[in-house]
Amino acid sequence: MSTSTTNIESVLNEQRVFPPPAEFSARAHIKSMEEYERLREEAEREPEKFWARMAEEIHWFRRWDKVLDWQPPHARWFVGATTNISYNCLDRHLSTERRTKTALLWEGEPGETRAFTYEELHREVCRFANVLKKLGVARGDRVALYMPLIPELAIAMLACSRIGATHSVVFGGFSAAALVDRINDAGCRAVVTADGGYRRGTEVKLKAAVDEALRETPTVESCVVVRRTGSQVEMKEGRDQWWHELVETVGADCPAEELDSEHPLFILYTSGTTGKPKGILHTTGGYLLWAHLTTKWVFDLKDEDVYWCTADIGWVTGHSYVVYGPLSNGATSIMYEGAPNHPAPDRFWSIVERHKVSIFYTAPTAIRAFIKWGDEHPRRHDLSSLRLLGTVGEPINPEAWMWYREVIGKGRCPVVDTWWQTETGGIMISPLPGATPTKPGSATKPLPGVAADILTRDGEPVAANLGGFLVIRRPFPSMLRTIWGDDERYRQTYFGEIEGVYFAGDGARRDRDGYFWIMGRVDDVINVSGHRLGTMEIESALVSHPAVAEAAVVGRPDELKGQGIFAFVTLEGTREPSDELKEQLRGHVAREIGALARPDEIRFSDALPKTRSGKIMRRLLRELAASGAVKGDVTTLEDFSVIEKLRAQEEE
Ligand code: PRX
Repeated sequence: MSTSTTNIESVLNEQRVFPPPAEFSARAHIKSMEEYERLREEAEREPEKFWARMAEEIHWFRRWDKVLDWQPPHARWFVGATTNISYNCLDRHLSTERRTKTALLWEGEPGETRAFTYEELHREVCRFANVLKKLGVARGDRVALYMPLIPELAIAMLACSRIGATHSVVFGGFSAAALVDRINDAGCRAVVTADGGYRRGTEVKLKAAVDEALRETPTVESCVVVRRTGSQVEMKEGRDQWWHELVETVGADCPAEELDSEHPLFILYTSGTTGKPKGILHTTGGYLLWAHLTTKWVFDLKDEDVYWCTADIGWVTGHSYVVYGPLSNGATSIMYEGAPNHPAPDRFWSIVERHKVSIFYTAPTAIRAFIKWGDEHPRRHDLSSLRLLGTVGEPINPEAWMWYREVIGKGRCPVVDTWWQTETGGIMISPLPGATPTKPGSATKPLPGVAADILTRDGEPVAANLGGFLVIRRPFPSMLRTIWGDDERYRQTYFGEIEGVYFAGDGARRDRDGYFWIMGRVDDVINVSGHRLGTMEIESALVSHPAVAEAAVVGRPDELKGQGIFAFVTLEGTREPSDELKEQLRGHVAREIGALARPDEIRFSDALPKTRSGKIMRRLLRELAASGAVKGDVTTLEDFSVIEKLRAQEEE
C-alpha cells in the first residue's frame, strides 16, 4: 500500500444531531445509549464471554470447546463447534410460525414477481443441494455462481452452504476474462449461471460469457443454467444442463451437513492494490453470528418488517444483507433484479409502495442519482410503510444524507450509515437506530464487540478531530480468515501495515463525541458507485492493449459515482493518440474487467511523472485529475516538464 502520510486532513464540520424518535426507541431491540454502553463495556471487559453469550442466538449442532483461538494474524472462532448456515436460515424456522411466512419476495425488471415461503425456499434449496451432489460436488469443493439477481442465486448459495461446498459469487457485470481469473484462482468444480438477466431493458447474456470463460478453466466439470430470459443459448453436451430439468431428477430431502465452525463458507473477490483481485475467505460460525446479530441490531428487525437491501448479491452487501442476515432472522427479504430507473426513475419507490417495504438499505451513489432525477418521483408514491433507512458502500455527503432523511424518510425514519468491508463480513461502525443520535455524514460509533480505533501510521493514538488510519484492535468473529491461496498477502495487507492491529485501508477521524467520520481509502483503491476497484487492475487492463506502453489510473471526485476513473496513458512509440483510440481503450477495459471499470477519461501523455526511483507520483496525477493543477510538493519529481505538459493539455 502506498500510504505515506502520518496524518490525514479532515475538513468536514457538521453540527446537526438527530436523536432517535422516542416511539422508535420504545420498541427497538437496543433502546438507549445506556444499553449500548453496557453491551460495549461487557465486550471490552470480557470479549470471549461476550461472544459466547451472543452465540446463543445461533443454532449449533455441537457447542464449542473454546470461543477463540488467536494466533495472530489467524483467528479460529467457536473452536470445535459445528453448525450450518443454511440450517440456521431455513430449517430453524420450519417449526415456528415463520414456516408459511414469505422469506424471499422477488421482482424481475420486466415486472413479474415470485415469492417463496420459508417452507418453499427450504424445499428448493434441498433439491438444488441434491443436484449439486449428483453432479459430484462435495464438501470443500468450490462452486462459481455467475447469475442475475434472481431467486435461484440465493437458492444456489444456500444449497452450497447446506452441503459444505464453498461458493464464489461473481458479479454478473464482470466480463468473461474476470470470470476466468476468479474461477481459476479458486479452482471451481462447477458453475451456475443463467441464459441471461435484465438490466435497463436489455438482456445481459451471461451464458455466452460463461461459454467464453470455460474454454480456459480446466477445473470446471459442469455448468448448470437457469432459464431466465428464454433466449437462445448453446448447451455443451456432457457439461451444460438446465436447472429446471435437473431439479426434476432429485428428491427434496437433504439434511444440512454438520460443518465445523471454521468450514470455508464463501470466497468473494475484491480489489486490492495490485492487479490481482483478492479472494476474501469467510468461514461459517463467526460469519453467521455477525451477519445475524448486525441485521437484528442495525436494522432493528421485527417479524412484521418487509426488508429491502437493494445491493446485488455479487457484492458482500448482498451476501450478508440480502441473503444470510435477513434469512437467519426469519425476515421477509426483497430482491429486485434490475436498474433503479427502469422503466422510469420511480421504480424503487413503486416497489416500496407496492410491497410495503419498512426497512430500506441502499448506497449513497443511488441516493445522489435519486436527487438528480428529482423529488417528484418519490413524491408520487406512498412511502409511509418505511420506518428505517440505511446506507453503505462509501462516505455519504451530509446533503445527500439530509435529502434521504427528509424526502424519503419524511423526517420520521432514523438513517443508519453503516461502515464495513468485504473483509469484515458484516457492519462494524453504525448507529443503532433506537439508541444512537445521528449526525449527517457520520457512521457514528463501533458496534458492541468491535474494537475500532484511529491511529497514526506508527500505531500511536490520534487526538480528537485529527485524521488517521482506521484499525480494528481485536479479532472479531466475522473477520476474513485469509486471502484464498495467498496467506502471505493476507498477512501483509491487513496486519503488516500497523503493528498488531487489523488495518482496513481507510482514513478516518473521531470527533469529540467519539463519532467516527470515514474519509475514504488511503491506498490505491478507488470507490466507484460504492464498489472497490484497484487502480492497478485497471492499469494492467490498459497495458494489456498493444497500443499502450504505460498507464496510471487515479480517482477523481464525481458528483454521482463518488469517484470517477481517470487514466493517464503513454502509447507505444509507433502509435498516435486519437479519440478513436481512446474509445478503443475504454472498451478494452470494459471487456477485460467489466463496464464498471471503464475509464471516464483518458489522457495521453509522452511520459508519466515519476520520482527518481521510478515510482509514478499518483498524488500529482490525482491533483491534476481533480483540479487541473498541481499545488503540492514536487521536489521529488524527476522531470518537472512532464507535469507542465500534462497541464498544458488541460488548458487546450
Ligand atoms: O472505503 C470504505 C467504503 O467501502 C470500502 C469497502 O468496500 P467493499 O469491500 O466493496 O464493501 C462495500 C460494502 C460493505 C471501505 O473500505 N465504505 C463502505 N461503507 C462505507 C464506506 N465508506 C464510508 N462510509 C461507509 N458507510
